[in-house]
Amino acid sequence: MINPKIITIDGPAGAGKSTLAKEIAKQFGYVHLDSGALYRAIGYGCKLAGVDLKNREAVLKVAENLKVEFLPDGRVLLNGKDVTTKIRTPEGGLLASQVAQFPEVREIVVKLLRRMAKGKKIVIDGRDAGTYIFPNAELKIYLTASPEERARRRYEELKKKGYSVTYEEVLKEVVERDRQDENRPFAPLRIPDGAVVIDTTGKSLEEVLLQVKELIDP
Ligand code: DC
Repeated sequence: MINPKIITIDGPAGAGKSTLAKEIAKQFGYVHLDSGALYRAIGYGCKLAGVDLKNREAVLKVAENLKVEFLPDGRVLLNGKDVTTKIRTPEGGLLASQVAQFPEVREIVVKLLRRMAKGKKIVIDGRDAGTYIFPNAELKIYLTASPEERARRRYEELKKKGYSVTYEEVLKEVVERDRQDENRPFAPLRIPDGAVVIDTTGKSLEEVLLQVKELIDP
């Protein structure tokens, strides 16, 4: 067992990363950094500004001028406005995945995350947290699950929040995002060296937590 300063949780969309990160933060006193929320906020900011996501210069300009804040209660503010629920839609995921293809956008986000982590014990979830943002993290976790199970979880979560989506739409979005996140040339989704791999298919949050708790000093 270890007492890590940085815990990274990587994996594909819907594997349960942010749920696990929130629980670890609560139970072990870590600050949770949700790296996907930053890409989502940038993607959403581009949409609001009517920016074509293929236009690298225009996307970069939006990213450079965005002010994103994480509030301690989990809310995300974009230029002072609460966008917490707006960025969580399937469309928000695809927009995020698209802007995340640009290395310059990633550099902005990575710098911001490293600054946010300074002097704190953090648990960060994302796609490149253990491979690129914090390669020296003491504990790296890679969460995965079958695409169907991930889509089902996302679908149920979105339905509960009142979004009108179909399971087929969510599955399509999950598969498309996997393809984009795994195939981008810069900092793609990969299992970090030395990561503990947990397949959450058919497992409850409690079961996964039990497995993770065995790795961390209480
Ligand atoms: O974790 P999420 O579903 O909120 O992430 C949304 C998108 O942001 C994801 O499909 C790819 C991108 N992302 C990334 O490229 N790198 C990260 N560390 C986190 C998210």
